[in-house]
Amino acid sequence: MTSESDLSAWVKEAKLAITAASDLEALKLARLAHSGDKSPISLASRALGTMAPDDRASLGKIIGEAKNQVAALVAERASLLEAERDARVLLEEIVDITLPASRSTRGALHPITILKNEISDFFIAQGYGVAEGPELEAEWLNFDALNIPADHPARTMQDTFFVEPLDARLVLRTHTSPVQIRTMLEQDPPIYVICPGRTFRADELDATHTPVFHQVEGLVVDKGITMAHLKGTLDLFARKMFGDEAITRLRPSFFPFTEPSAEVDVFFNGRWIEWGGCGMVNPKVLTACGVDTETYSGFAFGMGLERTLMVRHGISDMHDIVEGDIRFSQTFGVGL
Ligand code: PHE
Repeated sequence: MTSESDLSAWVKEAKLAITAASDLEALKLARLAHSGDKSPISLASRALGTMAPDDRASLGKIIGEAKNQVAALVAERASLLEAERDARVLLEEIVDITLPASRSTRGALHPITILKNEISDFFIAQGYGVAEGPELEAEWLNFDALNIPADHPARTMQDTFFVEPLDARLVLRTHTSPVQIRTMLEQDPPIYVICPGRTFRADELDATHTPVFHQVEGLVVDKGITMAHLKGTLDLFARKMFGDEAITRLRPSFFPFTEPSAEVDVFFNGRWIEWGGCGMVNPKVLTACGVDTETYSGFAFGMGLERTLMVRHGISDMHDIVEGDIRFSQTFGVGL
């Protein structure tokens, strides 16, 4: 039969084991060994049922006390070990909130795209639409419909990228003017559109040329349109691009699809700069597109976006624009 000294010995053993437990896991093992179902104290407690009532009462009380002592020792040790663990975890998982965050660099629109958006916004605000056409264009739309005859020098292999098979009569468009034709074939006047887009000419890439470049075309067809409207529109456009001081001048020139035609120069930073071409839409072109020249007249203009950007920002080398070096692009901002 279990004696009181057995119990005090078990409590003593329990105390030794509990005090020796150096972490919560070890404490759990000590608790199971000394107060779990198979511990001597629990076994003795279970044996009480078979005892005479008198013995059961006295021994039961002692066993109960022993159990309470062990439980108290476990609880005391547990709170100590938990406090230790919490302190250690706080140190181990410390976060240095003063470290700089890792940053991912944000992309930016290309300066040409930013300029294209700026120009589109400017004309949209005046009621213009933005039209687009294919970069691979029918030779007929790129030349013939624009009154550029078959023997015109612009058609020769030097300037134009012809695309095989040659009998398909497709070219990489050499200007955005075919979009004028497409627009007039598709919609009736009044027409107010700009056509920004990529254009192609067989030039070597150098400081001032690139075989792939961008133009923006403007086309207006309405009743009573005169060259004064063209000049006024170019003046506003020039001021938008180059600042309020900018003025434009027209120099007589020739384009097969405009009559009369002019080169448009802009006065910027103290000098005249060639900016683009313009003129009144040639009645032949209007007629070819089914526009009644008795009722309607129109003007058109076309500028290079690379040139506009270079002049405005003092960029001296075309390579900077086409090579896509992010250090160049970033100086123009994100553009969104
Ligand atoms: N398409 C002409 C060019 O590329 C520019 C232009 C457009 C001239 C519209 C007159 C009218 O050179």
